Amino acid sequence: MNNILGYQNQNVVVTGAASGMGAACAERLIEAGANVYALDINEISAPVTKAIKVNIMDKDSIAAAVAELPDEIFSLFNCAGVPCPPVPPYNTVMINFVGMRELTRQLLPRMVKNGSIASIASTAGMAWRTNKENVDKFLAHDTFEAADAWLQTEEGAAISADGYGFSKQCMIVYMFNVTGELAKKHIRINTICPSPTESAFSQQMEEIGLGKDVTDLFTPGNGLYADGGDMGDALVAINSNLFRFVSGCLIPVDWGYTAEITAGQRDNLMNISL
Ligand SMILES: NC(=O)c1ccc[n+]([C@@H]2O[C@H](COP(=O)([O-])OP(=O)(O)OC[C@H]3O[C@@H](n4cnc5c(N)ncnc54)[C@H](O)[C@@H]3O)[C@@H](O)[C@H]2O)c1
Repeated sequence: MNNILGYQNQNVVVTGAASGMGAACAERLIEAGANVYALDINEISAPVTKAIKVNIMDKDSIAAAVAELPDEIFSLFNCAGVPCPPVPPYNTVMINFVGMRELTRQLLPRMVKNGSIASIASTAGMAWRTNKENVDKFLAHDTFEAADAWLQTEEGAAISADGYGFSKQCMIVYMFNVTGELAKKHIRINTICPSPTESAFSQQMEEIGLGKDVTDLFTPGNGLYADGGDMGDALVAINSNLFRFVSGCLIPVDWGYTAEITAGQRDNLMNISL
């Protein structure tokens, strides 16, 4: 088999692998010859090397999952995530950011030279510049426990009230902050920002009245909705050897939605920037 992507016989970890982008990612990685270790709170149907149940907002559950992973890891795909609403802001930030950061940290010592990490933020997280002061305040709570405790303070609850956007802003700024230190270890890290994608996530939003009449505002100029495979393939490409000199990048996977905003051709409804 052609190994241009570099995944053959490599151990990779995919969170959120039960559904949507993470499931698509896991399937493509299996095709590329990787040993896929799949983590999710729900049942995983892809024929992975090992499926591991984890609740990523629970530190003990993360530690138990990590104990089942191999000693050497080539790539990590942080795909697990929830929308807010309907998920409350505290749970959303714990799942989308605090648990993701904890898992990433626990796996870093196992990452091989030229290893790679790719995470899914969102267009909604691209308003990070306008909220950087608050994001920095939260990121200063550098441990799982400190972050958890701060979110439950009056100040933390107020700053993170937007839940989803805030969690994704944190992911993006965290990536910028660690890129240099990871470069010294020959590990890459990148983050994608998908435009609206049809998945269980979008169904959850639709059920609470945030359907296509709302999300149509954020689709590319061609009006297309992505599917899990569009994002899974982008993630697999970014973590592959083909992208071996690309790190610390915020990569919109949105068929030019961000470009249209940057060019002033669309209303910047979420105050986003690269
Ligand atoms: N769908 C979209 O329009 C869209 C747009 C931008 C970004 N995103 C992001 O993309 C990522 C993937 O979303 P998707 O669209 O594939 O949705 P999805 O709901 O199909 O997949 C999310 C996965 O995360 C898992 N998960 C949720 N909570 C978990 C927990 N506590 N512990 C472990 N696993 C958990 C779910 O079981 C599910 O398998 C998410 O981070 C989401 O925020 C989605």
